Amino acid sequence: MADCLVLASGSGSNFEAIALRLANSPHRLLSLICDRPEAFAIVRAERLLVPVLRISYGRRREEAESRLERALVSLAPDLIVLAGFMRILPAAIIDRFPGRIVNIHPSLLPAYPGLSAIERSYADAGAPMGISVHIVDHGVDTGPLLAQFEADRTDGPSLPEMEERIHTLEHRHYPHIVEEQLDIIDREHGMRGLT
Ligand code: GRF
Repeated sequence: MADCLVLASGSGSNFEAIALRLANSPHRLLSLICDRPEAFAIVRAERLLVPVLRISYGRRREEAESRLERALVSLAPDLIVLAGFMRILPAAIIDRFPGRIVNIHPSLLPAYPGLSAIERSYADAGAPMGISVHIVDHGVDTGPLLAQFEADRTDGPSLPEMEERIHTLEHRHYPHIVEEQLDIIDREHGMRGLT
C-alpha cells in the first residue's frame, strides 16, 4: 500500500477519475487539497467521501505556501498528484518530495507548456495535440516525462471536440499512471522492509 494526495483547483474531473480508480486498489487517497473555495473538485470529493483540505491563498501567497508545505509534511504522502492545480509549487516543497510529485498537462510537452495549452496548440493548425504526464521539477511543465498520448485531430474537429478528446485521454490514462507509480513505491517499500 502507498499513500497519495491530489491537489486540484478547478472542476476536478481528473481528481474524480483517480479517486474512483484508487478505491479499487490497495492504495490510499488521503485527501484532496484545494486552493479555491468555489472549485467543483470539492463537491466531487465530498460526494466520494474523500477528506478535503482547503488552502486559501488570498493575497498572502507565502503564508499559503508555508501552510501547504506544513500540511504536506504532516500528511506524509508517498506521492503528490497535481490534477489541474493552478499554482506553481515553491522550490521548498519540490525539494521535500523529490521525484514524488506528478503532473498532467494537456499538450505534448515540451510543446505548449504553461496556461491555455489546448487553445494554443489547437490554434497552431497541424500541430500534434495530446497529453503529457511528468514528474514535477523546478520548471513549469519541464520535468521528466512518464508518458504521452496523442489525440486524433486529423478529421478537423472543433476546439470543444478537441478539448473533449484531450479530457477523455486524461481520464483514461492519468489514474492508471498514478496507480502504477504507487505500485512502484509500494514495491520499493517492500524491498526496504517498510511495509
Ligand atoms: C486538465 O486539462 C489538466 O490537464 C490541466 O488542468 C485540467 C484540469 O481539469 N492541468 P480537471 O479539473 O481535472 O477537470
